[in-house]
Amino acid sequence: MRAVAKGAVVAALSIAVAACGGPQSALHPAGVEAQQVARLFLAMASAGAVVWLAVMGLLVHGLRHRRTAWEPRRAGRLILWGGAVLPAVSLAVLLAFALWLMPSIRPWAAAGQGGLRIEVEGHQYWWRVVYRPPDGGPAVVSANEVRLPVGERVELVLTSADVIHSFWIPPLGGKMDMIPGRTNRLWLEAAEPGTFRGPCAEFCGTSHALMAFPAVAMPPEAFAQWLAERASPSPNAGGEGREAFVRHGCGACHRVAGTEAQGAVGPDLSHVGSRLGIGAGILPNDEQALVRFISRPDEVKPGVEMPGFAMLPPDEIRLLASYLRGLR
Ligand code: CUA
Repeated sequence: MRAVAKGAVVAALSIAVAACGGPQSALHPAGVEAQQVARLFLAMASAGAVVWLAVMGLLVHGLRHRRTAWEPRRAGRLILWGGAVLPAVSLAVLLAFALWLMPSIRPWAAAGQGGLRIEVEGHQYWWRVVYRPPDGGPAVVSANEVRLPVGERVELVLTSADVIHSFWIPPLGGKMDMIPGRTNRLWLEAAEPGTFRGPCAEFCGTSHALMAFPAVAMPPEAFAQWLAERASPSPNAGGEGREAFVRHGCGACHRVAGTEAQGAVGPDLSHVGSRLGIGAGILPNDEQALVRFISRPDEVKPGVEMPGFAMLPPDEIRLLASYLRGLR
């Protein structure tokens, strides 16, 4: 029986530990701020484990070996030292450690240093992302994907268009709420290239769990080239697909740079074909997924504001999907 119980504990622990990896793990830091958050977590968790083991040890000792009560003076001393002095000292040490780490977890000193600024606005249930290069180059509007250069501190300006959302890329740094009527700032520095997942970390409605984005940390040269390519319209923005896009009124909500579609209500689709996914991190970026989203967005993402277009002839929907795939 004991062996079975041991086996169960080991199995449960290995599942728990295996779940600590992946593109959304704060325990596999790939950013300067996240490294400090992970350090703080390890220090807190280890100190908590030591305290827990000590208390459990005392409990087992008491249950197994002590049949008589301690005399009151001795018991009083144990409570004073173990119940008041020890927690006060250990909590003070942990607090001091956390305060000492604070400037590197929330580097306010980076304000005004003039690096790349990325504005992210939360919507039910997607993200507007605007890149403002430090050299005064043109702003690049995108959605549902955040890219940043490795080794450079990036300022994230966080706002919300409707309810409270929360911006979080666990492998890169701590989370920050996006609050309507308020601007919050976060600084992140990716330490290594990689593709991570950023979830919305504040319940914001029916499809809160379906509101995420890929975060891609790129080598600086690759990032500069990527951004420069996004500053001009896609070479495939014209043609038959554009006509269908405009004819069916998509341009009232969505923008495709270089066309008459200049809507600002929904996500900017200027280069949607080159994004890693669609629907804010929930579907792969392929024609089938686009057809599905255009036809019945509410089925993919309950509560979404976009109306469905299932009433259009299938050929028209496919034409729209292949047009969007081509916007690279
Ligand atoms: Cu947005 Cu939860």
